[in-house]
Amino acid sequence: MPLLSRLSLQAATQPAHLDLNAHIFTHTHTIIYKMARQFFVGGNFKMNGTLSSIKSIVSALNDAKLDSNTEVVIAPPSLYLIPTRDHLRKDVEVAAQNVYDKPSGAFTGEIAVDQLKDANVNWAILGHSERRTLMGETDEFVASKTAHATDSGIKVIFCCGESLEEREANQTVDVVTRQIAAVTKQTKNWDQIVIAYEPIWAIGTGKVATSEQAQEVHAAIREWLKKNVSEEVAEKVRVIYGGSVSAKNCKELAQCADIDGFLVGGASLKPEFADIINAKI
Ligand code: PGA
Repeated sequence: MPLLSRLSLQAATQPAHLDLNAHIFTHTHTIIYKMARQFFVGGNFKMNGTLSSIKSIVSALNDAKLDSNTEVVIAPPSLYLIPTRDHLRKDVEVAAQNVYDKPSGAFTGEIAVDQLKDANVNWAILGHSERRTLMGETDEFVASKTAHATDSGIKVIFCCGESLEEREANQTVDVVTRQIAAVTKQTKNWDQIVIAYEPIWAIGTGKVATSEQAQEVHAAIREWLKKNVSEEVAEKVRVIYGGSVSAKNCKELAQCADIDGFLVGGASLKPEFADIINAKI
């Protein structure tokens, strides 16, 4: 909707006793931020695939009709980043599944931000629960990598989420906001970060969070950002959901006000990934 019509719509719905101009200004800004949140779908291949299977996924995506309003990023294992980038359609981006927080040097097994940029890879997934739990990555380390990557021009899908025990102990929001708070201590680059809320109990289990459960946490994240970072960041940052997203459940989840897309694991390796990308149409 053009700005002027939005303003008149807003004006038409204001109670007469309010300071109309101030009210219109605040609300119009909120509307603009919300409208500006482009739907985002990431595909996390994890440690799956071969040259030949990834080639097939790439050619299926190249041939698929994808919603042009949705931003799409796929994350193959690092070995396959370059062939993926070389053969993938240009309106889909590529992400590494990890990146280190030092510029270069004696860090065996790690990849540097500049190496990603050299390979035309502009995104990285950081803080995935598999790295936090299996590789022992701490909130501070994930935050440090997020700060270094975004300072150097790599955008980040920052993952957070609670375990089943934490959910059952009513600690979901505490855990997720603690993980996000670690990031706010090290960077202000929120315009380069997408937050992926991924409850650990829903990852790879087929046990998707209900749309109410997901929406509740997404709204709590936004509320926390509003209080602890800024209203602008709270309204602008995309908060996507991950954990057993499939072609079957994506449309309902996509309807939720605070769910701005998905991070998809298992289903990103299958033809249904295109349907998930098209969840809004
Ligand atoms: P899943 O994984 O879709 O296979 O549950 C999601 C993720 O780990 O990002």
